[in-house]
Amino acid sequence: MIQKINSFEEYQSEYSKSVSNPEEFWAKQAETFQWKKKWNKTLEWNFDEPKVEWFKGGKLNITENCLDRHLEERGEKTAILWEPNEPNKPAIHITYNELHDRVCKFANVLKKNGGKKGDRICLYMPMVPELAIAVLACARIGAIHSVVFAGFSAKALAERINDSQCNILVTADGGFRGAKTIDLKTIADEALENCLSIKKSIILKRINSEVSMKQDRDVWLHDELASIDLSCDAEEMDAEDSLFILYTSGSTGQPKGVQHTIGGYMVYAEYSFKNVFQCEEDDIYWCTADIGWITGHSYIVYGPLLAGATTVMFEGVPTYPDAGRFWEVVEKHKVNLFYTAPTAIRALQACDIDFVNNYDLSSLRVLGSVGEPINVEAWEWYNEHIGKQNCPIVDTWWQTETGGMMISPLAGITELKPTYATLPLPGIQPCLVDADGEEIFGNDVEGNLCIKYPWPSMLRTLWGDHERCRQTYFSTYPGKYFTGDGCKRDADGMYRITGRVDDVINVSGHRMGTAEVENAINEHEAVIESAIVGYPHDIKGQGIYAYCIMETNKAVNDTTRKEILAKVTDIIGPIAKPDKIQFVPGLPKTRSGKIMRRILRKIAEGDTSNLGDTSTLLDPSVIETIKKGAI
Ligand code: WTA
Repeated sequence: MIQKINSFEEYQSEYSKSVSNPEEFWAKQAETFQWKKKWNKTLEWNFDEPKVEWFKGGKLNITENCLDRHLEERGEKTAILWEPNEPNKPAIHITYNELHDRVCKFANVLKKNGGKKGDRICLYMPMVPELAIAVLACARIGAIHSVVFAGFSAKALAERINDSQCNILVTADGGFRGAKTIDLKTIADEALENCLSIKKSIILKRINSEVSMKQDRDVWLHDELASIDLSCDAEEMDAEDSLFILYTSGSTGQPKGVQHTIGGYMVYAEYSFKNVFQCEEDDIYWCTADIGWITGHSYIVYGPLLAGATTVMFEGVPTYPDAGRFWEVVEKHKVNLFYTAPTAIRALQACDIDFVNNYDLSSLRVLGSVGEPINVEAWEWYNEHIGKQNCPIVDTWWQTETGGMMISPLAGITELKPTYATLPLPGIQPCLVDADGEEIFGNDVEGNLCIKYPWPSMLRTLWGDHERCRQTYFSTYPGKYFTGDGCKRDADGMYRITGRVDDVINVSGHRMGTAEVENAINEHEAVIESAIVGYPHDIKGQGIYAYCIMETNKAVNDTTRKEILAKVTDIIGPIAKPDKIQFVPGLPKTRSGKIMRRILRKIAEGDTSNLGDTSTLLDPSVIETIKKGAI
C-alpha cells in the first residue's frame, strides 16, 4: 500500500524527486500494488501524437488491488457504507469480503450475458451499491465501463452508447432522488430503440415500478444472481488496456469519450486520495458526487477502495428531506473526511443556519471542494460553520481528463489559501503560458494552465477520435497538455484557477459545451440560431444565458420559452436548461461569421459599460437592441 507524505518537508523532497526522476518516483509507488507481472518500462511518451504509456508490459487486474489484496487484513471492514435516499431507511454496510463476493457474482452475470474483455458496457444507474459493484464487475472481466449520469435524457444516453458501441446496458427500473422518482427503464427503453449494438440489458429492481421487459434483451439482475457462480478469476489485463470511457463536454456539440487506462490510473487514484485527504485506517470518508462523473469514479469507487478505506455512498440530494441532510449523515456515520462541491455549499449556505447547528459535526477532520472555483464567501462559510475553523479545506483542481486531483493542498501538510488550489501534487508539473504560447516564468503572473510532463492517470485518447484528442489538448501549445483553464500564480507560487478560457461553461460543477446546448435549442422549430454564454449565478456558480433568433412570423412568449426548455431537457437533460432566454433579432458576429461571445457575456453579466473593441462586427447596431432587451 502507498505510504502517505507526513510533513511539509517530506512534500518538498518528494516533489523535487518526482520532477528530477519521474520514472523512479512513480515506479516506487507502483511497486506497492499487486501485479500479475511487473512492467518492463515505466514510461514512454511524446505529446505530439500524443502517445503516453505507463508501466508498459505490466499485467494486473485493478479489482485485485481494490478488493482481493485487502481481504486478509480488512475483510470484515466496511468498504461501502450506503446511505439511502429516505433517512428513516437503514444504511447498509458492505464489508470488503462481501463486496468481493458481490463483484465476482456480478462479473459472472455480465459474462453469462455475453460480456467479455474489451467490450464496452454502459451503466445508467441510480446511486446504489449495485452501481459501484457493476463498475468493479466490468473491471473484473476486463470490459470497459462507460457510466452515463442518470440525469441524462434518452437521446443523450443513446448518443453515448452508440459512440462507443456498448453491447450491454446495466440499468434499473428507476431511482429515488429526494422527493422524485426517475423512471430510468422508460428512458433506457426509448434510448435503446436507436441502439443496435446493445444485445442485453440487465435491470436492477429498485423502485418496484411496472416496467416492460423486452424478450431476449432484458433480464432482471436478481434473477440472474439467483443461480450464479460465486467465484470469478480476475482477468489478466495489460497496464495500458482501457479501464473506462467517461463522456464529457467539449467546445463542439459532440461529447467526448475520455479514455483512461488501468495501471497509471490505479497508481494515481490511490496516491492522490491518500495524500490529499490524509486518510487513516479507521476514517469514514464521504464524497457526495455522483458516480456518473469523474469525481465519483476516482474518489467514491477506485481511490478509496484501493486505499482500503470506508467510502460512503449517498443515494439522495443535499436538500431532502431538508437542508440538514448532509449534516445529519455526517453525525450519523461520524464522517471524518468530507468532499463536496461549491454549488452544494452555496445552496446550503442560503438556508437557515439551524440546519447545520442541529447536528454534531465534531467527527469532521478534513473538508474538500471540487468542480469549480470556490468563491471566498462559500469558503469562509464552509470553514466557519462546517469545519468550525478546525478542518483544513482541500480545494482540489482537476478534470475528467486528468483522472485524479492535480493541484490541491495536502490536508494539514501544506499551507492553505482561501480560493486557491495552492500547490501541485508530487509528479504534477503545471505551467502557465501566454497568448503566444510562451511559458510564463516567475511568480505573481497569470496565463493559461498547461501541464508539461505526463502523469500516470492522464487520458490516453478520446474514444474513436485520437485526432480530436490531439487537437483539443496537445496542439494549442505544442509539447504541453492544455487544460482549457485560466490560472493565476501568486507571489508565493500558489495556483488559483480562474475558470474556463474555452467555449465550455461550468454550471453547478457540471461541464457543458456551449455548442451542445445551442444545438439542442436550435432543434426548436421556430429557433433560427442561438448563442449560449455563462453568467455569474449565486448558487450554480455559472447560469446559462441563451440568446435566440426566432423566425420573424412566429409570436414568441413564455410558452415558447417553456418549449425551448423542454427541447433541452429532451436532448440533453434538465441540467442543461438555460436560466434565461432572450429573444434577439440578431447576434454580434464578426465579418467572418464568428459569434463574439465576449460581448454577449458582458451583456448577460449586466456589465455593458465597456464592451471592448466592436469594430470588427458586421452589424454593430444589433448590440444596442440586445442591450435593451437584456433580462
Ligand atoms: C473546473 C471535475 C476551480 C475547471 C473534477 C476544470 C475547478 C473543470 C476545480 C473540470 C477547482 C474543477 N477550482 N475550478 N477546485 N475543480 N474545476 O471534468 O474549470 O467535470 O477544467 O472534472 O472544472 O471539470 P470536470
